[in-house]
Amino acid sequence: MISVQDLIRKKRNGRVLNREEIEYLVRGISSGEIPDYQISAWAMAVFFQGMDERETRDLAVAMANSGDVADLSSVQGVTVDKHSTGGVGDKTTLVVIPLVAAAGIPVAKMSGRGLGHTGGTIDKFESIPGMKVEKEFTDFIDQVNSVKAAVISQTGNLVPADKRLYAIRDVTATVDSIPLIASSIMSKKLASGAEGIVLDVKVGSGAFMKSREQALQLAEIMVAIGKGAGRQVVAVLTDMSQPLGFKIGNSLEVIEAIDLLAGGGPADLLEISLELAARMMVLGEKFDQVEEARDYAAELLNSGKALDKFTEMITAQGGSLQLNRADRGLRMAAIQQPVQSEISGYVNRLDAYEVGHAAMSLGAGREQVNDKIDHAAGIELLKKRGDYVQAGEKIAVIHASQEKHLGNAEAGIKAAYEIGPAKPESTPLILDIVT
Ligand code: URA
Repeated sequence: MISVQDLIRKKRNGRVLNREEIEYLVRGISSGEIPDYQISAWAMAVFFQGMDERETRDLAVAMANSGDVADLSSVQGVTVDKHSTGGVGDKTTLVVIPLVAAAGIPVAKMSGRGLGHTGGTIDKFESIPGMKVEKEFTDFIDQVNSVKAAVISQTGNLVPADKRLYAIRDVTATVDSIPLIASSIMSKKLASGAEGIVLDVKVGSGAFMKSREQALQLAEIMVAIGKGAGRQVVAVLTDMSQPLGFKIGNSLEVIEAIDLLAGGGPADLLEISLELAARMMVLGEKFDQVEEARDYAAELLNSGKALDKFTEMITAQGGSLQLNRADRGLRMAAIQQPVQSEISGYVNRLDAYEVGHAAMSLGAGREQVNDKIDHAAGIELLKKRGDYVQAGEKIAVIHASQEKHLGNAEAGIKAAYEIGPAKPESTPLILDIVT
């Protein structure tokens, strides 16, 4: 007879749980038979003692099988997926889905909503007027076969064990544990069914992983979990010390993603999007070499084919865009207030966490899972690391629906910028690849 307190004690004492014990825990988490206090005690024991690779893999697989598992076998072609561990201004999914689909590779994307200072892909898509992200599974598969791309919100019964465990971790200071993050993310990826998975592991102040060493550890264990479950997985470590692109907030990020798809857009977003898309194209068996795939992805952007695919996917899901307008037909905030620098100098640091937090305080993100999002709220950055600023010059613009939010957001943005006399050295955006 397995007892939960024995499992907690075993983990607390630094021992390794076997597969049967992990499966017992996961069953009790999904069924509700194990109470919150025992789950949180076990999670805290894992936080301090860690889990070995086999244990982490067993936890991911048991959680993946705790609810519905998407069957993508009726999709024509090799299905690929991507996942970001979460960042600020990270709209790469919006670019990469149509880019890979335009290459003829099916992308069946199940995404989540944002929580805390990082944004969620579903919230971004929902800022497009009319866009529906809830679909019957058979309609979802039909769209993947006809358009090559579809995006839906994760269904209620996908990985119920992770849903409950994550909610408990969120309030017991046990989110930032590498084996728990790895098993949580990979359980969702395994249950989402794609054969090839590209992971964008963010590193820096705006990410869960603050250092490259931690991120590398997370990437390696996630790749091992995926491979152990028979999937092709590549992890790309990318910089999240400052936000990606210039725009943060749901409508603003869709606009910036469309700018990139239309052949413009910021250089950092372009570099990371091309890398992720190229890796997906290789896993989707369209190319053998990443370099070739990257060139092809750039061609799809320049020719407008990726933008056409984006429009086709949005239209198939009821959304409408006005591509001839600067706001692309999205709702803009009533108030747009500039923030000025008080001193002259070079931007030495632009803290992603601070910017993400300021955007959340404007209503662009959720503090609690049930909070309502203000899709038009956000921040437009005018200066990034390495740029020179004159005293009195605008460094950012706050997009707000309510005056009362302006003060906190301005203070947050000012705290995010560190301006000094010397120009900082430029740092790479792509830090490592784990295959
Ligand atoms: N994202 C997840 O899905 N799970 C975690 O534990 C952390 C980030």
